Amino acid sequence: MRVGILGSGLMGGKLGTLFARAGHEVVFSYARTRGKLDRLAREAGPNAAAGTPAEASKDSDAVLLAVHWSRVNEVLGQAGDLDGKVIVTCSLPMSDDDSEVVVTHTSSGAEELAKRAPGARVVLAFNTVPSEVLFGVFEARRRATRPSLAYCGDDSRAKRVAARLIRDVGFEPVDSGPLRIARYMEPFTLLIAQLAYERPGGPELAYRFERFKPRRPKRKRTSRA
Ligand SMILES: NC(=O)c1ccc[n+]([C@@H]2O[C@H](COP(=O)([O-])OP(=O)(O)OC[C@H]3O[C@@H](n4cnc5c(N)ncnc54)[C@H](OP(=O)(O)O)[C@@H]3O)[C@@H](O)[C@H]2O)c1
Repeated sequence: MRVGILGSGLMGGKLGTLFARAGHEVVFSYARTRGKLDRLAREAGPNAAAGTPAEASKDSDAVLLAVHWSRVNEVLGQAGDLDGKVIVTCSLPMSDDDSEVVVTHTSSGAEELAKRAPGARVVLAFNTVPSEVLFGVFEARRRATRPSLAYCGDDSRAKRVAARLIRDVGFEPVDSGPLRIARYMEPFTLLIAQLAYERPGGPELAYRFERFKPRRPKRKRTSRA
């Protein structure tokens, strides 16, 4: 697939690099300097290039939105027409000083984004992992057990695109339902951030959903007299 990266920081830089290493064509865009985008493209290998947000979104099968909430409108404006495009967003609706979530309870950042880019197909994904974990998960991707990564959205084609990207970087995609489930996923991310950055153990935190089969009650042995 061709994937445009809107926001080439910790998340966009790493995910874009991994998408390119997994064989996708990637265009890095939106950083403070062109030099940073060129460097990312060089380091990500032959499948990657640097460009403007408009170039990143043009002809893309998906764009990854990975900017601070305060920059969403600007980057969407620079990306141009996103009608019909798949937007995979990991951006969280945080206040300017990152001290609180500014859209919550009755809506979510992902749903707000869908209103700001009407016609686009929005999927929330990758928001629940610290960027520090991404390269390690990619390197371990051929192991039998992969960490799960929940995603949600309303458009089934967009969700298939997101699920492929999730799989390609080494996670097991877990479809958690329609876009409104972002109301639960986004605050959950803050728990992950709390554990990753505020508690001992550091940010190397991915998680798995485990399925436990309920134990069958043991049959009583009937003694034959
Ligand atoms: N980091 C994580 O572990 C993590 C995890 C889950 C979700 N998230 C969410 O993902 C989103 C991105 O997070 P991040 O940590 O990747 O952020 P980040 O490292 O700050 O990246 C944001 C990108 O936007 C660019 N940018 C900022 N202001 C700009 C401006 N005025 N002009 C042009 N480019 C500008 C930055 O440029 P430079 O590269 O030049 O600085 C950077 O490339 C956020 O909404 C965050 O809440 C992050």
